[in-house]
Amino acid sequence: MEFNIKSGSPEKQRSACVVAGVHESRKLTPAARAIDEASDKYLSNLLRKGDMDGKIGQSLLLHNVPGIPAERVLLIGCGKEADLDDKQYRKIIVNSIKQVKQTSALEAVSFLPGLDIKDRDYRWKIQYAVQFIDHELYQFKEFKSKKNNTKKSLRKTTLMVSRRELGQCETALSRGVAIARGVKLTRDLANRPANACTPAHLAEQATELGKTFASVKVTVIEEKEMEDLGMNSLLSVSQGSAQPAKLITFRYQGAGDDSKPVVLVGKGVTFDTGGISIKPSAAMDEMKFDMCGAASVFGAVAAVAGMELPINLVGVTPAVENMPSGTATKPGDIFTSMSGQTIEVLNTDAEGRLILCDALTYSERFEPAAVIDIATLTGACVVALGKHATGLLSNHDPLVADLLQAGQTAGDRAWQLPLWEEYEKQLESPFADMANIGGREGGTITAACFLAKFTKNFHWAHLDIAGTAWVSGKNKCATGRPVPLLVQYLIQQHEKQN
Ligand code: BES
Ligand code: MN
Ligand code: ZN
Repeated sequence: MEFNIKSGSPEKQRSACVVAGVHESRKLTPAARAIDEASDKYLSNLLRKGDMDGKIGQSLLLHNVPGIPAERVLLIGCGKEADLDDKQYRKIIVNSIKQVKQTSALEAVSFLPGLDIKDRDYRWKIQYAVQFIDHELYQFKEFKSKKNNTKKSLRKTTLMVSRRELGQCETALSRGVAIARGVKLTRDLANRPANACTPAHLAEQATELGKTFASVKVTVIEEKEMEDLGMNSLLSVSQGSAQPAKLITFRYQGAGDDSKPVVLVGKGVTFDTGGISIKPSAAMDEMKFDMCGAASVFGAVAAVAGMELPINLVGVTPAVENMPSGTATKPGDIFTSMSGQTIEVLNTDAEGRLILCDALTYSERFEPAAVIDIATLTGACVVALGKHATGLLSNHDPLVADLLQAGQTAGDRAWQLPLWEEYEKQLESPFADMANIGGREGGTITAACFLAKFTKNFHWAHLDIAGTAWVSGKNKCATGRPVPLLVQYLIQQHEKQN
């Protein structure tokens, strides 16, 4: 999909489809009013007959509106004019694109960014219109034998802004486009089945990303080198698999060498069977999504590089497959992590923390301003927060505030859980420095407590995306979360400093 911005009058657009809003009850937005006036009250006459009253979710498609050069005018219900918020804006934009999609229009011109949204400026409305539309149009067809590309479909959306705002909105547009591309990359990687998306595949895709962006340097560390680095905890997870582990590092340089990078660490378990502590078979296919943390690092790096954000960013993604086999880790096995701390693996299904701890220790060498790890870490997080909020735990309160704020702005929200030392006791082991599980209670918190033992030397936050990274059911699909949150956070950090 191609996006652009423009300013101009609704009644003069030569377009396949002009989109304008109608508020409740039958109150025309300025764009709809302009069309109404140019068409000798065609719209208000129709509305008076009761065809549409402007509720969110409604729409009315009109052809050959008199005096209007556009082929179609699409009216979209926008609800009550006062107190329109982010969520309603998203619904309105998504509804408009669903309706346009049902026509044969290849291109549309939307005046919906002109709506007044509480506490949001034109830049936000443009950036997020792009993200919402692209998200809605996403399809994953790589493994369908019939591509049925024959149907004509929407190729270009023009978002209309007032002339005064045009300059400022250019950046918003390019940010929206870059984030939408990053989100798509994340979703494509995550939706790929585990027989295609192996650790080696992730490494290849990372190398491709490095070729696309000259500003991104990619390195892949193989198992031998991991051994030399002492990453025995990470290697303990992949030792049962025929697929060798890969540790992928992205280095994006958009600022000077003296600017400390944020480091994103993403869990990349390309398939999680549970290992010897094997999972039940129901819905086990969804464990192909256990690399969504890694995929979100790919997406965030691609987005930041795409918009040429003047910051430094590092991405570290340990990629492994967790399998049962004759060489797999057995419950009770003990490993020495890269940090020197020893771990008793009581449950081989608590593998995410085992790969993350070594990746977190590795992150120290980048002298990070902050480290954020992203992981489909615990089923307990889905129990606690459901599918709507990402779990957030951190050792640094200002980082929490920034991430919560970014999630609000991006419509990709997180919710904080406590990381109190009281929980740490649950990880005690009689044989090693710690066990890798902490019992049934507070599973998301004890998982984060485990990671906290490896993040003492820097500001760190952990995002548990077990509930938010994909949706189940008949429309099973990766969501691309939390790429919007992460990139919004990075943009905000950059804007704070300037
Ligand atoms: N990848 C899973 C977590 C998960 C499960 C995410 C279901 C999304 C949906 C993780 O590796 C795991 O298996 N965690 C265990 C931890 C337990 C053994 C302490 C869990 O949540 O059951
Ligand atoms: Mn597991
Ligand atoms: Zn897992």
